Amino acid sequence: MPTRPQKAEKRTSGSAKLCAGLVEGGTTPSMGEPRPPPFCGGPCRSSVPVALQSLPPVARLGCPCGPQLPPTPGAHPECTPESSSCVFPPSWYRGTQLGRVGSTRDTARGVLVLTESGLSMVDWHLVKEMKPPRTQQEWEAEFQKYQQFPEFKILNHDMTLTEFKFIWYMEYSHRMWGRVVGLAYILPAAYFWKKGWLSRPMKGCVLALCGLVCFQGLLGWYMVKSGLEEKPDSYDIPRVSQYRLAAHLGSALVLYAASLWTGLSLLLPQHKLPETHQLLRLRQYAHGTTALIFLTALSGAFVAGLDAGLVYNSFPKMGERWIPDDLLAFSPVLRNIFENPTTVQFDHRILGIASVTAVTALFLFSRKIPLPRRTRMAVTSLLAVACMQVGLGISTLLLYVPTPLAATHQSGSLALLSVSLWLMSELRRVPK
Ligand code: HEM
Repeated sequence: MPTRPQKAEKRTSGSAKLCAGLVEGGTTPSMGEPRPPPFCGGPCRSSVPVALQSLPPVARLGCPCGPQLPPTPGAHPECTPESSSCVFPPSWYRGTQLGRVGSTRDTARGVLVLTESGLSMVDWHLVKEMKPPRTQQEWEAEFQKYQQFPEFKILNHDMTLTEFKFIWYMEYSHRMWGRVVGLAYILPAAYFWKKGWLSRPMKGCVLALCGLVCFQGLLGWYMVKSGLEEKPDSYDIPRVSQYRLAAHLGSALVLYAASLWTGLSLLLPQHKLPETHQLLRLRQYAHGTTALIFLTALSGAFVAGLDAGLVYNSFPKMGERWIPDDLLAFSPVLRNIFENPTTVQFDHRILGIASVTAVTALFLFSRKIPLPRRTRMAVTSLLAVACMQVGLGISTLLLYVPTPLAATHQSGSLALLSVSLWLMSELRRVPK
């Protein structure tokens, strides 16, 4: 009997444990309220919430015996994660569908269309792809190309051409927007350069920023490519590599932070603050806190990339425990940090809480130092945005990652990074 791939097995066992815990309790520990029964295709076979009933048959996800959802307990005994004859998606993958479907009150198709459109354009041409298909023939040719790739084969194999056009245009708009952003950097930079309006250091900044924009575009395509690769030993939903997603988000954050920093340095009048010992320490705290916020945001990309927001949907405990059993389930141990959804979620929680604690300490320390009004505003705003961001993160988790809330949480991380950069700019040393 062929054995199931290790990846699917590990993920399944992780969520089976979680599921068992939740079924026993039937309530969210932190809220004490009844919650929708968790759905698990694993051994516990708990009941299926109404939200999930609009999901298409599991057959669409690659199961040859074609059970329908909701499954009748025991109706398809051959179709369990342990089964070797049946290609069964990991239960936490279907948890993903539950979270998205339950929260957006939409059909699975609609949600998949909204959330899984990034792999609809299967090649990349800087200039040629700017012209979308026009005739029916061109569209059919484009659709046929998409049909060669795993997302269609595993997830969307009954997709119609009209549905394909929708996800194609979603991805097309994203790529065109990327080009607009690129031109918004490069054209004015070239103009200012030609006019001689850029100082020597500013020329270096402008070159670095334009280089980063181009790099970001290339990294985007490198990331998409990882979702198009055939993985014969995987029964999982095709998704981009969490490493490349994190690299793409990380480089976007660096580009954003560098642009904002350059803008603030040019636009904000500088304060001449007395260089006291306390001010030096406050400046160091502000730098350290910004670095921590950056790291937390980067770890969020791993949470999103692995759908790790759906493995333990309780707070502050993870299921029934403070430290979950399957925290170090993968071997070697280091792999857990980037590949085990439980560990990835655990780390992100810890980093999020550490960030808001650091911001609170920074706020309290700043109260002892005489600061200009604008600087004080920056510190207070930082505390407010940090609390809001943690609140959003916890809500995203407790509500099974609804797409609008997850998107707001993502934007919140940019807002938090922006305010911490503003504070750093306020505290900047003025050259003599
Ligand atoms: C300073 C604090 C935090 C920052 C800067 C931050 C940042 C981020 C970022 C950038 C993402 C990736 C979003 C995406 O690419 O879609 C993310 C995802 C996530 N975060 Fe946070 N986060 C913070 C705190 C928290 C906390 C305290 C929790 C819960 C206890 C949390 C729960 C989540 C969840 C569940 C996701 C996955 C969302 C998805 O799958 O789209 N976050 N976070």
